[in-house]
Amino acid sequence: MKILVTGGAGFIGSNIVDAYIDHGCDVAVVDDLSTGDHSFVNKKAVFYNCRIQDEALDNIFFRFQPDVVNHHAAHINLRHSVVNPIYDAENNIIGSLNLLKNAVKYRTKKIIFSSTGGAIYGEPDSLPVSEKTPAVPLSPYGAAKLSVEHYIRIWHLLHGLDYTIFRYPNVYGPRQNPEGEAGVIAIFALQMLSKKTPTIFGDGTKTRDYLYISDVVQANILALEKGSCETLNLGWGQEVSDQNVYDCVSKALEFNRKPNYSLPRPGEVNRIALNSDRAVQSLNWSPEITFPAGVKRAVRYYIEQKKKYR
Ligand SMILES: NC(=O)c1ccc[n+]([C@@H]2O[C@H](COP(=O)([O-])OP(=O)(O)OC[C@H]3O[C@@H](n4cnc5c(N)ncnc54)[C@H](O)[C@@H]3O)[C@@H](O)[C@H]2O)c1
Repeated sequence: MKILVTGGAGFIGSNIVDAYIDHGCDVAVVDDLSTGDHSFVNKKAVFYNCRIQDEALDNIFFRFQPDVVNHHAAHINLRHSVVNPIYDAENNIIGSLNLLKNAVKYRTKKIIFSSTGGAIYGEPDSLPVSEKTPAVPLSPYGAAKLSVEHYIRIWHLLHGLDYTIFRYPNVYGPRQNPEGEAGVIAIFALQMLSKKTPTIFGDGTKTRDYLYISDVVQANILALEKGSCETLNLGWGQEVSDQNVYDCVSKALEFNRKPNYSLPRPGEVNRIALNSDRAVQSLNWSPEITFPAGVKRAVRYYIEQKKKYR
């Protein structure tokens, strides 16, 4: 199977590329390296340094002729999307439309899309949210992701393109960029390793659902064969507070200082957790790495990185 992975030099995309190659797939990566790292790109993948919104994407599709597009390229900084929504939309909406246009032109069978459960449900009345909960994003980033979900659904109706849309919770683990939508574990770990005291925005009670990278990768493998025309939450369905994250990371690093606290930031939701029953049913997927176990693994990675770049 030939799979084009957009964002395959980034945190989640590069881990998926490795797994697809181990699975025996031919993989091409399209990434503009805006936040990605070329050293993360698997040597067995063909690499194209290109923005998904560029005309040059046509030629890449022409040469590679993918069966499946796994779409992970995005401008992922939610707070920047509040300040610069046009830049966010150019990358996340226009770029995705260019991808869909080429997918149809070159007869791609399926698209797997990384949407966000953390930023499209707004502040729901009850948690964990299922996919039936109305999507009311509070940020341009969330609005862009939701609009791409609609375009994909419409592309299925108009052109028969198959899809699986994943609504991720906060994903964490090796290679995560601390600048990202959900990079709090990376941020805390790297600051603590540099003996800096991290800041919690708000009073520490804000909650997120955290999923370790290998569980996300597994869902993307299963979606190659299952989950046709489905929109699926991934997550544990459990809320983990910012204070909890701080305590867990500081315990793993034996860091004894209390955090600083600052004002909450605009565009961010207060509480979220995702019910993934539908993914369990449709993909036969379930998460395996618990939060404390995942934090230990992630922290080990940042300790190794710190040693490498010292
Ligand atoms: N990390 C999370 O917790 C999380 C949660 C929900 C959804 N997502 C989604 O998963 C995807 C991957 O996120 P990540 O955490 O790995 O982020 P990341 O920044 O590590 O990866 C994104 C990759 O896309 C590339 N890219 C960005 N804009 C591009 C463009 N216009 N053209 C080509 N390449 C471009 C970047 O260089 C980077 O390599 C994103 O679509 C993100 O919105 C992530």
